Amino acid sequence: MKKINFLIFGDIVGKIGRKALIQNLSNLKAKYKPDLTIANVENLAHGRGITKKTLQEIKDAGVDVFTSGHHVFENQQGLPLLDNEEWSKVLIRPANVGPNLPGSGWIHLNIKDTRVSILNLQGQLFMPQDPSSIFLSFDRFWKEQVNESSKSIIIIDVHAETTSEKNAFANYVDGRANIVFGTHTHVPTADLRVMPNGTVQLTDVGMVGAHDSVIGFEKNSSIKRFLAESTAPYKIPETGPAEINGLFVSLDMDTHKVLKVEQIRETVAI
Ligand SMILES: [Fe+2]
Ligand SMILES: [Fe+2]
Repeated sequence: MKKINFLIFGDIVGKIGRKALIQNLSNLKAKYKPDLTIANVENLAHGRGITKKTLQEIKDAGVDVFTSGHHVFENQQGLPLLDNEEWSKVLIRPANVGPNLPGSGWIHLNIKDTRVSILNLQGQLFMPQDPSSIFLSFDRFWKEQVNESSKSIIIIDVHAETTSEKNAFANYVDGRANIVFGTHTHVPTADLRVMPNGTVQLTDVGMVGAHDSVIGFEKNSSIKRFLAESTAPYKIPETGPAEINGLFVSLDMDTHKVLKVEQIRETVAI
């Protein structure tokens, strides 16, 4: 039986997150043998968006495709990459925010003679940039970008705050999409499952970032902000253990049925 394997990571947070992935990706690849490796990069450059240097670092480490979220629009250095001829082949941003913002919300790749489409969406609940409905955005994508008879594999990064919106969405696309993984909260959920019509769903993959932290950021600076004692920018720990949260999915190349799913949760020394 021929397989097609996917290795997926949630939000990589800052230098320590990049280091954790760079130092461990070759081992993870040796174990899981992915045909495609995807990571969310909205927090890649010190928590805010991307830069060419930071993106190149994790591309060189072996990540193939980069999804993102609202923070990617906050880093002016990274904005041109979203429209750059080369980077835009592998770098996407939520499809359902600001039509005037740079970049595209999906890409189509050819892997092992299979069309693999990767779509990035941003939830509406408690999220900036006034996204349109992820449900209707998917329907539009399905109508305009997917040929139902050609059996492409569809992978969706749903960058959203609430479990309810992500969970409802996964049920809505069950049987149409192959993998729906959530990002943004930085906290992995324990609900990995194959849904009744065959879609793999994980409400949030979780981050790649500092373990002794508040969602990847220095804990005291975060607590101070909650206590309204500071409005200083978040700091990111540079040392200490890091956690790598990910998702592995293996599909049958002919039927696209799920052969194996596994949630990855590792704590590594940095
Ligand atoms: Fe994030
Ligand atoms: Fe986010």
